[in-house]
Amino acid sequence: MVKDVLEKAELELYVQESIPNVTHQRFKLHYHVTPPVGWMNAPNGFIFYKGQYHLFYQYYPYDTQWGPMHWGHVVSPDLVNWELLPTALRPGNEQCFSGSATQNEGILVLFYTAHEPINKPPYYSESQNMAFSFDGINFQKYKENPVSLYPPKGAVEFRDPKIWKNGNYWYVILGSKSEDYKGMAFLYRSKNMTSWHFKSVLAKSCGQVGHMWENPDFFEINGKFILLISPKGIINKGDRFKNTYQTGYVIGSFNYDTCKFKPETYFQEIDFGHDFYATQTTEHNGKRYLIAWFGMWDSAHPEDAEGWVGAMTLVRELDLIGSRLLMRPVEAITKLRQKNILQGEFKHNSILKFEKTAEIIVDVDLLVDIELEIVGAYGGDQITVRWNATNDKVMVIRSGDVRQVKWRPLDAFIWRIFLDASSLELFCGDGEVVFSSRIYPSGDWRVINRSRQSLYVLAYTLERSIYKNQSESTESTVKPL
Ligand code: FRU
Repeated sequence: MVKDVLEKAELELYVQESIPNVTHQRFKLHYHVTPPVGWMNAPNGFIFYKGQYHLFYQYYPYDTQWGPMHWGHVVSPDLVNWELLPTALRPGNEQCFSGSATQNEGILVLFYTAHEPINKPPYYSESQNMAFSFDGINFQKYKENPVSLYPPKGAVEFRDPKIWKNGNYWYVILGSKSEDYKGMAFLYRSKNMTSWHFKSVLAKSCGQVGHMWENPDFFEINGKFILLISPKGIINKGDRFKNTYQTGYVIGSFNYDTCKFKPETYFQEIDFGHDFYATQTTEHNGKRYLIAWFGMWDSAHPEDAEGWVGAMTLVRELDLIGSRLLMRPVEAITKLRQKNILQGEFKHNSILKFEKTAEIIVDVDLLVDIELEIVGAYGGDQITVRWNATNDKVMVIRSGDVRQVKWRPLDAFIWRIFLDASSLELFCGDGEVVFSSRIYPSGDWRVINRSRQSLYVLAYTLERSIYKNQSESTESTVKPL
């Protein structure tokens, strides 16, 4: 117990003392969640608990590369202003891999995979574990870990539990892979969260949807059920599945009595950018929110020179229209708007200049080609955002690497482009098509209208208030993320 308290205090001291000075960081994101120091990957434990949104993340504080997994922790009143809390979970002999959160009688419960070395092939084991908190800040691992929730025969990997409650039961969906190398998702049910019953193979890859499904999620929206998964090993087909790994979804129907899911669509990508993986959703006040790791395994991360690597995307609100899941930037994002830097005509070849952050809203006339060049004042990565009126495709081209997809607006003929110090998110229309890409410019941002005609644009700089307090006052206790 004493050892635990000391180790916790030591880690906090290390984190606080190692937070790099923001003014020396070109790439540090201003309004996205990033690790205070070290490495971040998948979002975990996204939940609204006692008046605040809690978000945890896969975290290794001691290096800018993936290492023994901790759970980092931030909270927010509104899903756009985030505050850093002490690291929630630290590894022991086991690493604390991805998982989710729920609450029971006022207690915040984290449900996660313990990933431990063993001395026979495959040289690691994966079991499901719990941790608790009464105040949403301090967590204790469950003394009886692991919980009794075991893989069915033939499951090769077994991780990333997503927990939720329906009626009198708790449900957990887990990601796995079969011996014949096909991604799978399993469903379990429990009355008490400690003893679990296998209910069904919720879905299995036909062979075309990857060999391992990570970070599965399952929820109802507008009367349909969505299976959201991050498969590894999908083969690239033309414009589709161009990233190392993908995140996407299948729509279907589900029956809580039989626990069977009936898919009604093919697997489709949810985001078309270069850096988007391992999503997690949560529900509050009837709205379903999604966040993702704004990154990708095996990508270069130039921010490592600044002592941190990895980020979360903006939180998006989900909606389902027909067979397309829409992602809209969370409404509260407008609270971050600061200075209006353009309103009206943006002429051919004119340049919009700003330092590190902006929201740029563009009126889109689909009859003509549109092209925006987004670049650093001194070079570095360049992104082109383009509408091709001949084939109805939106494109995001990062230093020659093209991502493109057809877009048919529902009723909003606009683009909302969010630029942060080293990222771009493009929301088309009502969120029918979204691209999320990291980008590393040199110097302040320049956006140039390369379309042949003027565009109509509304643009603001953005800053979150917690971040602002920090950079304005050295006395603030709140650290930028
Ligand atoms: C997803 C993932 C999860 C795993 C975690 C490890 O990116 O690979 O499957 O739990 O990251 O950090």
